Amino acid sequence: MANPSPDLMNKLVALCKRRGLIFQSSDIYGGINGFWDYGPNGAPLRRSVEQAWWKYMVEDRDNVEGLDSTIICHPMVWKASGHVDQFSDAMTDCMDCKKRYRVDQLDDPKTCPNCGSHNLTEPREFNLMMKTYVGPVFDEEHVAYLRAETCQPIFVDFNNVRIATRQKLPFGIAQTGKAFRNEINPRFFTFRSREFMQMEMEFFCRDNDSMDWFEYWRQERWNFYVNVLGVPADKLRWKWHDKLAHYAKAAVDIEFEFPFGWGEIEGIHHRGTWDMSRHCEFSKQEADCKYFDQETKESFFPTVVETSCGLDRICLMLLCNAYDEDTASTQKADKDEDVRVVLHLPFRVAPVQIAVLPLSKKLEEPAKALRADLRKFFRTDYDDSGSIGKRYRRQDEIGTPFCVTFDFDSLEDQAVTIRNRDTMEQERVPVAKLQEFFAAKI
Ligand code: GAP
Repeated sequence: MANPSPDLMNKLVALCKRRGLIFQSSDIYGGINGFWDYGPNGAPLRRSVEQAWWKYMVEDRDNVEGLDSTIICHPMVWKASGHVDQFSDAMTDCMDCKKRYRVDQLDDPKTCPNCGSHNLTEPREFNLMMKTYVGPVFDEEHVAYLRAETCQPIFVDFNNVRIATRQKLPFGIAQTGKAFRNEINPRFFTFRSREFMQMEMEFFCRDNDSMDWFEYWRQERWNFYVNVLGVPADKLRWKWHDKLAHYAKAAVDIEFEFPFGWGEIEGIHHRGTWDMSRHCEFSKQEADCKYFDQETKESFFPTVVETSCGLDRICLMLLCNAYDEDTASTQKADKDEDVRVVLHLPFRVAPVQIAVLPLSKKLEEPAKALRADLRKFFRTDYDDSGSIGKRYRRQDEIGTPFCVTFDFDSLEDQAVTIRNRDTMEQERVPVAKLQEFFAAKI
């Protein structure tokens, strides 16, 4: 990864904790490496991105069905998928400073990047699957795994979904949910976590048009980031895989330029018939793993095109892209200008979309009534503590696009002042037009 900018990352991590976006899990015990909690402002951000994905990938399409499978599946699922035997990274330990590394992340695998020592252990393979036990006996026979990717249950449930929905090829199955990987070196805030959310769609098709579908989904996924989430296209790039799995015809990642360098957000993969044929081999349930074409009377393994992204990485991308500092006039005695920290989050995903701020506590009743009306349609906040300037700053820091100020004139003219986070311009809008005004922002 090139172009590191740790300062911005440090500021973002501090802001996320201070403003209840994202903080260490188990903070009072010193945290647990690779696990993150989403606070009162982070949870709505993550949920709204997930909802935007679900709407775009499932609800707006006739040919994609939704699924919500369990985190723990039959252990044979992970045997068939190859995770039990092959899902590993090589790691090495520095004997001097005791730091541990993933060998493929070292520029020089013979030198410790922390202390410069050459005293590193021989690389050892380390399986990333998280193990647990199901039932009261804790022995090898009762081992189960927390899923390492959300797509495997999709393959296993293929025929149940097909029958229930009467779908014919080509069609997709999508799900969002937790995945777990015992990463050797969690890093870059939530970018590489040990527990994270994936959003995956497996598109089942015939082999002869699978590359057309690959191309279709590649464009669709780019459109999602640029047109739905508003990520600038020049901060995204394609990264084609040079080395392909033996069964794959193509694989490409979408990368974002993080402050610490370019990093993968999503992979679009042609998976051939690999997964379905492996589950057939291990389950012996041929009819569940193959597709029977009623017209040709042929039975065959469907070819799969996958779109796979990480929800936490998308949220991190949105936060990095949104973070900004500018100067704003202040009424503080000792200075004219103050640094304003602002998150330019899109309206669709902002934790709070509209904050209602009464100019005086005496206006609490009508201002709260206005907030109650707006919260039926939007994520809202109400704040009457401190100067109006301080309240704007608080909302800017969590990325609230609009503040609605209710003043004494509002009682007379039934209008409020809307302050725009990005332009800081103010406009007077009749209360009766507010819903229409904000609905146009989505
Ligand atoms: N089913 C294919 C699959 O899981 P992957 O490239 O291993 O492919 C897909 O993961 C996406 O999941 C990545 O592009 C990334 O956004 C997210 N992801 C993977 N490992 C992650 C981790 N340790 N922490 C956060 N997100 C992760």
